[in-house]
Amino acid sequence: MAKTLYKMSSIIFIMFFFSLLLLGNSHTFSRNLSKESLDLKEEKLAHLHFYFHDVVTGPNATAYRVAQATITNTSATGFGAVVVLDNALTEGPNLSSKLVGRAQGIYALAALNESSLLMVLNFEFIEGVYNGSTLTILGRNPVFSPVREMPIVGGIGVFRFSRGYVQAKTFFFDMKTGYTVVEYNVYVLHY
Ligand SMILES: *[C@@H]1O[C@H](CO)[C@@H](O)[C@H](O)[C@H]1NC(C)=O
Ligand SMILES: *[C@@H]1O[C@H](CO)[C@@H](O)[C@H](O)[C@H]1NC(C)=O
Ligand SMILES: *[C@@H]1O[C@H](CO)[C@@H](O)[C@H](O)[C@H]1NC(C)=O
Ligand SMILES: *[C@@H]1O[C@H](CO)[C@@H](O)[C@H](O)[C@H]1NC(C)=O
Ligand SMILES: *[C@@H]1O[C@H](CO)[C@@H](O)[C@H](O)[C@H]1NC(C)=O
Ligand SMILES: *[C@@H]1O[C@H](CO)[C@@H](O)[C@H](O)[C@H]1NC(C)=O
Repeated sequence: MAKTLYKMSSIIFIMFFFSLLLLGNSHTFSRNLSKESLDLKEEKLAHLHFYFHDVVTGPNATAYRVAQATITNTSATGFGAVVVLDNALTEGPNLSSKLVGRAQGIYALAALNESSLLMVLNFEFIEGVYNGSTLTILGRNPVFSPVREMPIVGGIGVFRFSRGYVQAKTFFFDMKTGYTVVEYNVYVLHY
């Protein structure tokens, strides 16, 4: 009995191996798949809430200006400045509260007559089931509006095929150092 089982499983294994070889050799550029084949079941709506820390000065800065335009210094809105960041995302508003991820990306001062940023951010999470998953945000951020909404353009890990939006609210701003804490509410559909 055990012997036949062993035989059968080796036959199945060999068949599987050769079908892989065949697939590899057929050079198929495209094919239609069922959602089930990628284990895509029910779409879920998740709400994530955390705080984003934009530390722009001091020894622990996580956001640095890397470029500017010829008019940046004389522009009332700092037009043309580009900042690269690797900012902490924490559960509570205090930088010392639990780290849930990081925001890595770029923002650029992209409005001539108002304070508005172009945001290009990857949120990489390290918390719970979201550990290792990322969301990509690309949007317009008029920083003095009470609530700024930006689209989620996609994600990886548990956020594959995701779509949705984020809402950003300034929670704390220090005029002297430029340190800003931004509260994020994320609404994301994913499988
Ligand atoms: C995928 O499905 C579409 C719509 O049914 C069909 O037109 C197309 O030919 C299919 N593509 C392949 C590669 O089978
Ligand atoms: C920078 O970070 C270190 C290590 O976390 C901390 O001890 C120090 O107080 C921080 N400095 C400032 C200015 O926040
Ligand atoms: C803008 O100001 C900074 C420092 O204040 C200076 O280093 C830089 O050269 C200036 N840039 C231009 C284009 O004037
Ligand atoms: C953040 O936490 C630190 C250490 O627990 C504390 O010293 C500091 O006052 C807190 N900051 C704010 C803004 O609550
Ligand atoms: C900015 O404001 C000035 C003065 O109000 C105006 O002349 C100019 O057209 C505006 N530029 C843009 C891009 O809105
Ligand atoms: C997240 O995943 C990394 C790599 O798999 C692992 O080292 C780490 O302990 C995980 N963190 C948490 C909070 O689960």
